[in-house]
Amino acid sequence: MIDPFGRHISYLRVSVTDRCDFRCVYCMSEDMTFLPKSDVLSLEELDRLCSAFVELGVNKLRLTGGEPLVRRNIMWLIDRLGRHLKTGKLNELTLTTNASQLTKYADDLYKAGVRRINVSLDTLDPAKFLSITRWGKLDKVMAGLEAAKSAGLDVKINAVALKGVNDGEIHDLVAWCGREGFDLTFIEVMPMGEIGDAERVDQYWPLSMVRAELAKRWTLDEIDYTTGGPARYSRVRETGGRLGFITPLTHNFCESCNRVRLTCTGTLFMCLGQEDAADLRTALRASDDDALLVDAIHEAISRKPKGHDFVIDRRRGAKSNVRHMSVTGG
Ligand code: GTP
Ligand code: 5AD
Ligand code: SF4
Repeated sequence: MIDPFGRHISYLRVSVTDRCDFRCVYCMSEDMTFLPKSDVLSLEELDRLCSAFVELGVNKLRLTGGEPLVRRNIMWLIDRLGRHLKTGKLNELTLTTNASQLTKYADDLYKAGVRRINVSLDTLDPAKFLSITRWGKLDKVMAGLEAAKSAGLDVKINAVALKGVNDGEIHDLVAWCGREGFDLTFIEVMPMGEIGDAERVDQYWPLSMVRAELAKRWTLDEIDYTTGGPARYSRVRETGGRLGFITPLTHNFCESCNRVRLTCTGTLFMCLGQEDAADLRTALRASDDDALLVDAIHEAISRKPKGHDFVIDRRRGAKSNVRHMSVTGG
């Protein structure tokens, strides 16, 4: 699949549920109303949709949410999708998770063929963790991370850089990830959902500044490592760990975008930062034959926009997208 800008689409991110056991302030509103069950695709339908994408050339699948591991029977889907690893059509089957359910699932994930997971964790301080996630218990996440390590899963920690929230902890996060053997990426907060409010503008912390602060204590050596995702990585000489920077606002990476995002209702968003979307559920349910679905996917890819137009700016404020991050899970 090639889009109008010549980009190969090989990475599908699938939000398997809009539900989550946390309520991170930059991701969901506190009184989030969830989708009625009838709108949500069954696991069988999600398998069929993902498999259609794999047949069309997607070689990396990432399950997101909400929190993917709170979806009932989720291991059924992950096991099913694992068959594409065995045929070699899929290079990677992975998840972005908050780790809260990993004590239960880490071993099963490894058995299904998952080798690497990304875990959202912005702070090592339990009180701060609770204020960011509104509902989250840090000790449960730490236990989940231990389980992931024991199961043999590689872990990347995602930390959204938030001024006035976790700015005092960036050195601790680097040191801790180094000790634990986790990769770490810092992320610029993106204006989504209700994020256009003044607080978010105040919290926005350009990663050029984060990098400058880190450079006071750590030596960051450029390395030639990529996951095919948006992070640009360095190696922290003192810890040996990898450190990535995801900079949607200060250094747009849309030019090399290789991904599209499917929601649990079968809506395909062609860009994280744009509202244009394609309904794949109608084509999926119209026939058992994939021909209609394949047409609908090609039509959607032909509309993939050039990039996002996120803005966070002290003078102009934040341009907010209508949907919440939890609709597509990043
Ligand atoms: P890797 O496979 O480890 O590279 O994962 P990833 O970075 O693709 O996925 P992850 O779920 O860990 O996302 C990390 C952050 O990058 C999240 O905040 C995502 O929203 C952001 N991100 C990922 N892809 C895009 C993208 O295409 N555009 C923008 N603006 N942000 C993205
Ligand atoms: N801006 C940047 N990153 C975000 N995430 C969630 N909401 C936002 C936002 N508004 C991150 C989470 C998770 C990843 C998928 O997206 O921390 O790690
Ligand atoms: Fe849940 Fe992840 Fe969104 Fe936080 S960022 S509310 S953990 S889906």
